[in-house]
Amino acid sequence: MIADNTNLLTPEPYSFLGYLCNMLKSTLLKATNAAGLLIKERINSKFSISVKDGPNDLVTEVDKASEALIMGIIREEFPDHFILSEEIGEVKMDSNYKWIIDPIDGTINFANGIPLCCVSIGLEKNGQMIMGAVYNAMMNEFFFTEKGQGAYLNDQKLRVSEKDNVRHSCLVTGFPYVYLDMENGPLEVFGRLIREGVPVRRLGSAAIDLCWVAAGRLDGFYEHKLMPWDSAAGYLMVEEAGGKVTDFNGDAYSPYQHRIVATNGKIHDELIRWIHNTHQ
Ligand code: IPD
Ligand code: CA
Ligand code: CA
Repeated sequence: MIADNTNLLTPEPYSFLGYLCNMLKSTLLKATNAAGLLIKERINSKFSISVKDGPNDLVTEVDKASEALIMGIIREEFPDHFILSEEIGEVKMDSNYKWIIDPIDGTINFANGIPLCCVSIGLEKNGQMIMGAVYNAMMNEFFFTEKGQGAYLNDQKLRVSEKDNVRHSCLVTGFPYVYLDMENGPLEVFGRLIREGVPVRRLGSAAIDLCWVAAGRLDGFYEHKLMPWDSAAGYLMVEEAGGKVTDFNGDAYSPYQHRIVATNGKIHDELIRWIHNTHQ
């Protein structure tokens, strides 16, 4: 009789995937934690500041230190993964995995000692965001999400708000460093909403904006010109907390295009109409 030893010959695939998944998650948490603590340690210290594209588009030495710290932690475990990070750009690798890093989101706040800033890291597999983490250590707020597993603030599961119309909502937005003078542009939409008495916050960190929508503190967020690292972790956070994220046309969101609307879902279509001035 021939022994059935297929179990011994075929490695159990799920155990390896489970192991890899744990490694990805622990690396994400470790890198986010380390960078968040660095930001907290340095926020009111002396650091050099230089300008990028415009007089207020800043980068500090701490942005770069945070980026180096995160990349070192990722590289230690996954030296062959693709990395896209704000200050260094693309480190291209032939890999299914891509880490999308904002070493400090809210650099202007950071540079002014305003404790509304964070590190944000998203992880893509085959072009799909599978995990994200955002840490604002000054407020002791660690946000984590995994596709299909919900979104968390520290150990608390998140759920978006229940508001069902824009006029009773509390919104948040952000502005590009250089004003884009266009119809339905950032100032026009902002003016339209605040003239009607809708509260619109401007916190200065898109990653925090998105996490706070996920947490139900804010009902909706829109912005005209985001980069992939601004939204990579935060948009999955909103989706996993039961919210909706699209572009300005209501089509599927990709972090590789600039425009974003992220809401509790209930005000989504109406907020898009406000952006296009067709809400009357
Ligand atoms: C900025 C923040 C801000 C948003 C800008 C971003 P940075 O990122 O997220 O809220 O309005 O569009 O560039 O420069 O602080 O990493
Ligand atoms: Ca950013
Ligand atoms: Ca940044």
